[in-house]
Amino acid sequence: MEVLRIRGGNPLRGEITVSGAKNAALPIFAATLLTDEECVIDNVPDLSDVRYMAEILGCLGAKVERQGAHGWSFKAENIHSKAPYDLVRKMRASVCLIGPLVGRLREAEVSLPGGCVIGPRPIDLHLKGLGKLNCDLRISNGYVHIDGHAMRGGDLFLGGRHGSTVTGTANLLMAAVLAPGRTRIESAACEPEIVDLCGMLKAMGAEISGVGSHHLTVEGVEKLHGCHYRIISDRIEAGTFLIAGAITGGDLTVCGTQPNHLSALLDKLEEAHIETEIVGEDKIRVIPGGKRRPVDLITLPHPAFPTDLQAQMCALMSLTPGLSILTEKIYPNRFMHVPELQRMGADIAIEGPSAIIKGKETLSGAPVMASDLRASAALILAGLAAQGETWIQRIYHIDRGYERIDERLRGLEADIVRLPASEMPQEILEEG
Ligand code: EPZ
Repeated sequence: MEVLRIRGGNPLRGEITVSGAKNAALPIFAATLLTDEECVIDNVPDLSDVRYMAEILGCLGAKVERQGAHGWSFKAENIHSKAPYDLVRKMRASVCLIGPLVGRLREAEVSLPGGCVIGPRPIDLHLKGLGKLNCDLRISNGYVHIDGHAMRGGDLFLGGRHGSTVTGTANLLMAAVLAPGRTRIESAACEPEIVDLCGMLKAMGAEISGVGSHHLTVEGVEKLHGCHYRIISDRIEAGTFLIAGAITGGDLTVCGTQPNHLSALLDKLEEAHIETEIVGEDKIRVIPGGKRRPVDLITLPHPAFPTDLQAQMCALMSLTPGLSILTEKIYPNRFMHVPELQRMGADIAIEGPSAIIKGKETLSGAPVMASDLRASAALILAGLAAQGETWIQRIYHIDRGYERIDERLRGLEADIVRLPASEMPQEILEEG
């Protein structure tokens, strides 16, 4: 087991380039099942979740080849339709295998994903949509069995009590592109990762209109061909780095971004009196100085403030004197980072779906526990700005979504190292 040791107080300085988007790569990998021709995917982040999805595709029968650190090729000539529990349960995103398996094979047998620490992860909207495409669904022994042999286009509505569903939209798009007839998806997710998936599907010959809106129309085609596709940059990683620059009072330029994917965050940073500057096409600079102010924010589907940056903003507001209120409307329980930030001295109270934060001048380093991907990122940010040493355990959560995070932050003058757990001070080992 490995841990991160962070000695806080260094303002981050320099430039960092964003990786490809994890949440685009995962459905795009799944989409390679839709053709028996080769698909080559570039700008893929080197993450455990991505390697894991590639492993699952291999288990389904696809020929998978790595092409350097950030390239993969897939050829799904002879595949079968059963995604086993022991693979699906480890990664919720594997649920987006359902759509391409139904689209290509007209059947799928996929284990139902469990919940996770950020809350229940139902797929009722996915299944409701498949029913509207005239698929027969049966749930038994923790698996959903889908018979799509009579599948045809239909009219779907993907709105749920927490807004639309991102992977649900991906699943239904990937089923509909090979379903005979027209499919209209109302209340579709319009996250940039869905736009990217549509770009790849169209590169394969799919006919999709309304891309980027909540109203998608798909004209089913007989067959899709292979493609060579480059994934968009990761807006959540870019946002995490921008917040890292802000929380440490550094002068940091994040390169390879798509600023139009970060409008909600840039708006909130401006409200917090954190100066940023868009430099050229794809660089965003955080500029030090100015007195930060507290903010109120609510997470909602894109283009509103993304839930995947809520934990990182909690860390920033914990070190911003004044009262901030962060309300989580996508995953109301997504506050696993709060008890750990409190160990570092943060003054946060949870009231229903809101974190009420009384920002402080300083936080103190402490041994903390990572719990999920974005909560872990929040702990790194807090550690970078805290006084003293922060030890973060269970950092495998971080490696799921941030490539070589310690090495890249060291390149920005952060004092952060990855060590074997045995190197932790005795008192932490005993406490643990
Ligand atoms: C995607 O998850 C992302 N993951 C998540 O990022 C992200 O937080 C989430 O979208 C919201 O933006 C990937 O893309 C791999 P949803 P997804 O279906 O698709 C409810 C990260 O940190 N819902 O849009 O699983 C659901 O409970 C991860 O990178 C239903 O009620 O999320 C939630 O409250 C975490 N029924 C809300 O909708 C359904 O059938 C949004 O879920 C589906 C979802």
